[in-house]
Amino acid sequence: MDLRRELQRAHDAARPTLATGRVADYIPALGAADPNAFGLALATVDGEVHGVGDWQTDFSIQSVSKLFTLALALATGEAVWHRVGREPSGTPFNSLVQLETEHGIPRNPFINAGAVVVTDRLLTLTGDAAGAVREFLRAESGNPRLDTDLVVAASEAEHGHRNAALAHFIASYGNLENPVEAVLGHYYAHCAITASCRDLALAGLFLARHGVRRNGGRLLSRSEAKRINAVLLTCGTYDAAGEFAYRVGLPGKSGVGGGILAVVPGRGTLCAWGPALDRAGNSVGAVAALDAFTTATGWSIF
Ligand code: DON
Repeated sequence: MDLRRELQRAHDAARPTLATGRVADYIPALGAADPNAFGLALATVDGEVHGVGDWQTDFSIQSVSKLFTLALALATGEAVWHRVGREPSGTPFNSLVQLETEHGIPRNPFINAGAVVVTDRLLTLTGDAAGAVREFLRAESGNPRLDTDLVVAASEAEHGHRNAALAHFIASYGNLENPVEAVLGHYYAHCAITASCRDLALAGLFLARHGVRRNGGRLLSRSEAKRINAVLLTCGTYDAAGEFAYRVGLPGKSGVGGGILAVVPGRGTLCAWGPALDRAGNSVGAVAALDAFTTATGWSIF
């Protein structure tokens, strides 16, 4: 199969959908993104990379970072599953409603509340949660320039009343180990990392390689990698996870910067980016491109 040609076809088929989405502006620094930017990259388990469109342009990875915080927290051998669940929430990514009846234990590690708890754990384990994510992404992508955009991180912090509310609420149940301000600082700093489709496709390959990193070392056991992929499938795109599974048929993680990283276990990764989002906060163009690619090629887990 000519993978590059299939990427181009998926990209061309999805491009008209961009006009139906809206760029996120609840974090003001993200509002300036170009709604017509659009890229798609594929990395294979043996390290081949292909891309089309704006696949080498940096963007704000936002919640795609939550996949890496979870993997790094689990890689230390420390369980987080007594502090965060693994069921789909069926609510928006920034919702607080379930926290009260569920005693400060977030439904899953990919909604904001769950990611805050995982960041807290990683901060305790490493002393520098955002730094650990940056180092991992640099090592796996081979891009030493990959970094946090401090303007985006500051913009998130300045307008982060909802995240601050849910973090304090979680803390009131005793489910944070570090001060709220420190945890949120690391959370914003890893969400505000900029990277390209190329970088993220390479960085996610450990999940396609059943836990094995670029250097051949093992980050996660095969079973842990399976479990992260499973939670990505059921929770990685929030209250649209059912629709994403239906259309794309792959585990995936989205971010409000417009990126989606999807895993094809045993084969590779796909990363699509387009800043115009649907109402659930997932990129319309990225979902459409992944849908078109997996439908045409059969690169799906089903
Ligand atoms: O906390 C936030 O709202 C953002 N830093 C991340 C949200 C996000 O990316 C949701 N994804 N679609």
